[in-house]
Formats: sequence, C-alpha cells, structure tokens
Amino acid sequence: MSQISPVITIDGPTASGKGTVAHRVAKHLGYHYLDSGALYRLTALMAHKQEIALDDEPALAALARELPCRFNHGHVLLDEIDVTEEVRAEAIGVGASKIAVLPEVRKALIDLQVSFRNTPGLVADGRDMGTVIFPDAQLKVFLTASAEARASRRYKQLIEKGISANMENLVKDLMERDARDSARTAAPLKPSPDAIILDTSEITAEQAVQNVLEWFAKTQKSA
Ligand code: DC
Repeated sequence: MSQISPVITIDGPTASGKGTVAHRVAKHLGYHYLDSGALYRLTALMAHKQEIALDDEPALAALARELPCRFNHGHVLLDEIDVTEEVRAEAIGVGASKIAVLPEVRKALIDLQVSFRNTPGLVADGRDMGTVIFPDAQLKVFLTASAEARASRRYKQLIEKGISANMENLVKDLMERDARDSARTAAPLKPSPDAIILDTSEITAEQAVQNVLEWFAKTQKSA
C-alpha cells in the first residue's frame, strides 16, 4: 500500500528554503513530511554525545541504523528528549554534512526514510530525495538560491532567535557545506534530470509553495 502513495521531493542546498516550502506544501495537501536532513543531524548529535569520531564509519552507521528518534508535530525527539533546537545548531549541521559523505551511513538511513511514504502521500526534503530515495516521485523540485540570499535568510533566523551571527562567516560556511555536499561520491547534491529547478533568490516562500502546488496539480490531472 505504501508503495503507491504519491511523493513530492524537494531537494536543494542548505538554506534554500526547502524545509519551509516542503513543510507548507505537506500541510496544504494533508501529506506526511520527511525532513531527511534531521536524520543526518540526529546521527551527528548522537555521535557528539557519545564522543564518536565523525569519520568512524562503522560506528556511525550503527548509530544511524538504530536511531531512537520520533517526530511529533514539528518536534524532534531523540530517546524521547526534545532536541528540536539542538539539532538545528550550526555545529550539528556541519557535523551532519561531514557524516553524510559516508556511504554506510547513507545506506543505514534508507529504510527509515522510505518508511515515511504512507497514505495519503509524502513531501520529502533533502539532497537526494529525487535522485536516490524516491526516484519514482510524482513531482521532483530542486530549489536553488544564491549563497548571499541563503546566508541572509540564515542570518535573519539566527538573529530572531537571539543568536549572534556574522554574514561573512555564514557565506563562507554555506559555500564550504555546498562544496562538501556536491563533491561527495555517495549521492551528491545535484538535481535529478527530471526535476523542475526553482530559483528562490527573488521570490517568497509562499510563491514557491504556490508553484509546487500548481505543478503537483498538473501531475495529478495527467495521471
Ligand atoms: O537539510 P539540512 O541542512 O538539515 O541537512 C544537514 C546535512 O545533512 C547536509 O549538509 C547534508 C546532509 N544531508 C544529506 O546528505 N542528504 C539528505 N537527504 C539530507 C541531508
């Protein structure tokens, strides 16, 4: 049954707006939502807590295979502890990007990601949703935005949370993370050949949501 549920994949680089757009599209359609980056972040957070080195592939894969996590109304729980804020920390994002280069870690997370595909449907965001995890998705979208636009969004988010931030460092971090995510051999960040590319540098999240909903409605009509 789960195999026939429709999937919309929204991939793209860090801070391209994919989390916001995917979440709103899922809400609008009443679909499930998968934030696949959270799984890499949770693995990095657990590694940090257990003092496991970020290049210890077998130990990290073992952690990823048995991740004691749960998602509940926008909250991320690890071992039943709310780590929603903790997993979003920049240092954990950098750790996630480092462990995401390891093929055994990626393999260990496949079944968990696929298990989110349930009726009535799923919106999945990440880097390889359209290329690797859900290659048969009904609609694949790849969001892009300039490094400056993405850094300024991240800057606003951090300042709103009362966390001090520096634009120059944010642009540098984003570019380093993009380079690592794109250059890795295991499931690199790249659009699926059948993905629609949407540049969000000059549009609002709501406009991006409307685009995705229109494209999806078209796929439903032609199905
Ligand atoms: O989307 P995010 O920033 O929360 O993701 C954190 C890191 O996890 C990102 O730098 C790369 C990795 N990631 C991945 O390799 N594949 C995914 N599908 C999602 C995230």
